Amino acid sequence: MIEVIQHIDDQIDLISMKNDQLEIVVSNYGCTIIKVMMRDRYGQIDDVVLGYDDFTQYQTLDAYLGALVGRVANRIKGGRFTLNGQDYHLAVNNGPNHLHGGLKGFSYQIFDYIIKDDSILEFHYLSKDGEEGYPGDLDLTVTYTLKADTLTVHYYATSSKDTLINITNHSYFNLSGHQENINQHTLQIHASHFACVDGDGLTTGQIKDVTNTAFDFRQPALIGERVNQNDEQLLLAKGFDHPFIFDVSKQQVILTHQVTGRQLIVSTTLPQAQIYTANYLDGRLGKNQHRYDARDAICIETQNMPDAIHLEDNPTTILRKGETYDETTSYQFKVMK
Ligand code: BGC
Repeated sequence: MIEVIQHIDDQIDLISMKNDQLEIVVSNYGCTIIKVMMRDRYGQIDDVVLGYDDFTQYQTLDAYLGALVGRVANRIKGGRFTLNGQDYHLAVNNGPNHLHGGLKGFSYQIFDYIIKDDSILEFHYLSKDGEEGYPGDLDLTVTYTLKADTLTVHYYATSSKDTLINITNHSYFNLSGHQENINQHTLQIHASHFACVDGDGLTTGQIKDVTNTAFDFRQPALIGERVNQNDEQLLLAKGFDHPFIFDVSKQQVILTHQVTGRQLIVSTTLPQAQIYTANYLDGRLGKNQHRYDARDAICIETQNMPDAIHLEDNPTTILRKGETYDETTSYQFKVMK
């Protein structure tokens, strides 16, 4: 069942998607995932994503809790790029670089929506030519489908001019339901390579083999045993904040919390995910007056290579006029017996 449960104002709503296994509350503001209520192995229901009780915090703070991020997620070096011989200037809103679509990226935009049936919610946003400095009218449709224990997110976009696109969702997962941080969560990532970053979090173009490093999650490992290792890349980023490049085409990331028996399985058509251990959460207050600090959650941000426009010969983040951006990421919230 899908129903509107609250009007925040005359344009922004909270919408509940519910079945016998999950309740997911979302907003048409930034397509934000506000709550994911799931059972544990004993039947106890908890919320497994970070968020705020006061809606205005989604509109004013900068951690992108639960939000859809775009037009281009992650960093673009210097906030500038050249496409078809033309230079474009974007906001520099993260050190010397552009981050997460700019000052008012898609996370801060109001989407239209329609409830299609009892399991499908469709959002739509038209990003105007020049918005946040990007070329082309970008017409974006995002579909959230809830079936059994899985939320499937489908992104579909076209543009009136050649442009850049790299959409992700920035949910902060904590499968313990805010009982503890993520150190006792087990992570498995089917990725034999990751991309290195500099001290500003910008991808450098260097791709490293994970073998014999803290980044080797091909076999499940506890996050707490890895994240504080004396590794140059971990020290630079204050934890994991790196693109992992997948070896497989589904079930690429599996996050498990043994005590509660909760497991999140992420499958995507995208080639990689930025794995971010909430390194910059700074003690702000979230739901139920919980203090959110570094390691209180993990983001699994499926996407193409950050700063591809500067790093790749044929940048995967270019969307040409007449072509379509068509990507799907699903989140299976499984309860182990
Ligand atoms: C980035 C982090 C950044 C965070 C902002 C993540 O996607 O990789 O470096 O601090 O978003 O909330």
